[in-house]
Amino acid sequence: MSDRLRIAITKGRLLEQSIQLFEAAGLDCGPVRDPGRRLVHSIPNYPLDVVLAKAPDVITYVEHGVCDLGIVGQDTILEKGGTFFSVLDLGFGACRFALAIQEGSDFYGSYKSKRIASKYPEFTRAFFAAKGMDVDVIKIEGSVELAPILGLADAIVDIVETGATLKANGLVPVETAAQVSARLIVNIASMKLYKNQIDDFIVKCRAQLTERDSRSGGM
Ligand code: PRP
Repeated sequence: MSDRLRIAITKGRLLEQSIQLFEAAGLDCGPVRDPGRRLVHSIPNYPLDVVLAKAPDVITYVEHGVCDLGIVGQDTILEKGGTFFSVLDLGFGACRFALAIQEGSDFYGSYKSKRIASKYPEFTRAFFAAKGMDVDVIKIEGSVELAPILGLADAIVDIVETGATLKANGLVPVETAAQVSARLIVNIASMKLYKNQIDDFIVKCRAQLTERDSRSGGM
């Protein structure tokens, strides 16, 4: 490999906060801020190339070692699993997995077999298996709130950030299944082969997270 590290970052909600973290650490993220349709960008003042990818693909690229590092939500990690080091909780992208139902319905009130819609079928199956409940899980690709509205499902398991989407669609959360946030992950071989560079990068990120926490009065 070259002496540059490669990091895959999840496009969408996590990208802006990843850029803010990197910029606070002194990295020039100009090319990533104005990406156009280009998917790979070099940081001019630090030996790092940024790859913009969909969340599950971030894990795939890191697992296969074509990216040394990745930034991905814990929700995707819980759903997809994989073999890598999860080295840092980045704090941002904080949300929760919730079980939600239509307002006024009584999910636990009957013994009738339940149908659950989710973008996260593996996580949902494991969640109900842990409760000893046998449910039928249907995979939905997005806007999963539609499933109970249209009568396809009795409930959904989805990530909730502000709760606005649930509310706007007449749904209410009844249980939190897990708290999630963005994680920095590292390929296992890269961690050994490029230890010094990766350590340097982790230290830079951690210093910013510590400073951010101290500014907000947390830990
Ligand atoms: C996510 C999630 C909810 C919504 C929650 O969807 O699946 O629909 O955000 O956010 P809120 O609690 O702040 O309202 P996303 O916007 O990623 O779109 P998608 O449903 O099309 O995947």
